[in-house]
Amino acid sequence: MTILVTGGAGYIGSHTCVELLNAGYEIVVVDNLYNASVKSLDRVKELANKDFPFYEADIRDKDAMRKIFAENKIDAVIHFAGLKAVGESTRKPLEYYDNNIGGTLALCEVMREAGCKKIVFSSSATVYGMNNISPLKEDMKTGGTTNPYGTTKYMIEIILEDLQKADPEWSVTLLRYFNPIGAHKSGRIGENPNGIPNNLMPYITQVAIGKLPFLSVYGNDYDTPDGTGARDYIHVVDLALGHVKAVEKILSSESAVNIYNLGTGIGYSVLDIIKAFNKAYGKEIPYKIVERRPGDIATCYADASKAYDELGWKAERDIEEMCEDSWRWQSQNPNGFDD
Ligand code: NAD
Ligand code: WQD
Repeated sequence: MTILVTGGAGYIGSHTCVELLNAGYEIVVVDNLYNASVKSLDRVKELANKDFPFYEADIRDKDAMRKIFAENKIDAVIHFAGLKAVGESTRKPLEYYDNNIGGTLALCEVMREAGCKKIVFSSSATVYGMNNISPLKEDMKTGGTTNPYGTTKYMIEIILEDLQKADPEWSVTLLRYFNPIGAHKSGRIGENPNGIPNNLMPYITQVAIGKLPFLSVYGNDYDTPDGTGARDYIHVVDLALGHVKAVEKILSSESAVNIYNLGTGIGYSVLDIIKAFNKAYGKEIPYKIVERRPGDIATCYADASKAYDELGWKAERDIEEMCEDSWRWQSQNPNGFDD
């Protein structure tokens, strides 16, 4: 079976490519390299010891996408391609709606023409908005997103659900990721943000490597055990394995819309993460408590039982392993794929 992976050169995509190849799938990757290096795909090939076609193209370019479907018999698509920076999305809403929503519409149109109607989509815990109480369950009301990025995820979920309703031949799996961190054990692939990172773990690793002077902890007056924000951090390899399970199911079962949280079910605070990271690092990273970051909520973690019950998937890697693997990647590749 052949899986088209959009955005396969990126952080989660590259890890998923390795696990798909290890599980015996053929893959085809399309990525416009806007936020990725082609070197990540060379390393995927090296780690899995397998080759696969790569198309450098934008998913909004329908002719380029038609060519991919004409040249390959695609059984299902995992759709990672998109822009993902929350802060940037508030400054560039048109770019985010165009890329994320326009990209998904173009992809689905070409899939329909090619008769490939199985899609696994990268959604996010952000679709639960500000008002649901953790643990978050798939049947909770979504929406009330607080930034254009989150709104694109919410809207794409609706678009894909409408598509499946209109044409029941479609199979749609919406995977709501919590907070992916960590890297492949080899230290060969990992997260490689452009500029100053927004997310906690890449910020911490860049402090540890000496690129940034200290971590700002955004608020210690939340209603959490130590006052800092709590999140459900999930190892990117566990997340990748969740995609393999989702693909297995979408290829073998009746058409439907299925929604799964991919998280561990555990909320760790910022101070918990600093402590776990320091253990892996062998030193202490400097930090300062500062004001809350606008738009942040106190606590966000998954009820991950549905993915276990229906996909037979659960996250296996603990927070120590996540920190060790994040640090290995950063310390072995201080400049990401430019090393
Ligand atoms: P990433 O930026 O590393 O990967 C996205 C990839 O898509 C990049 O390689 C980029 O070059 C490519 N891309 C972007 N627009 C494209 C286009 N129009 N055509 C072709 N390629 C394009 O991000 P990631 O962390 O690997 O995230 C993958 C997906 O998961 C994204 O959709 C993201 O929104 C979603 N997600 C990420 C997180 C997270 O915290 N990392 C959490 C929840 C959901
Ligand atoms: C985690 C915790 C911060 C940075 C975001 C998106 C979400 C999803 C995952 C894509 C929070 C604190 C952070 C820092 C800090 N992405 N923090 N200092 O905000 O939970 O989720 O990424 O879908 O949609 O919103 O992740 O890593 O930014 O923050 O104290 O320098 O770390 O306040 O409590 P977040 P994050």
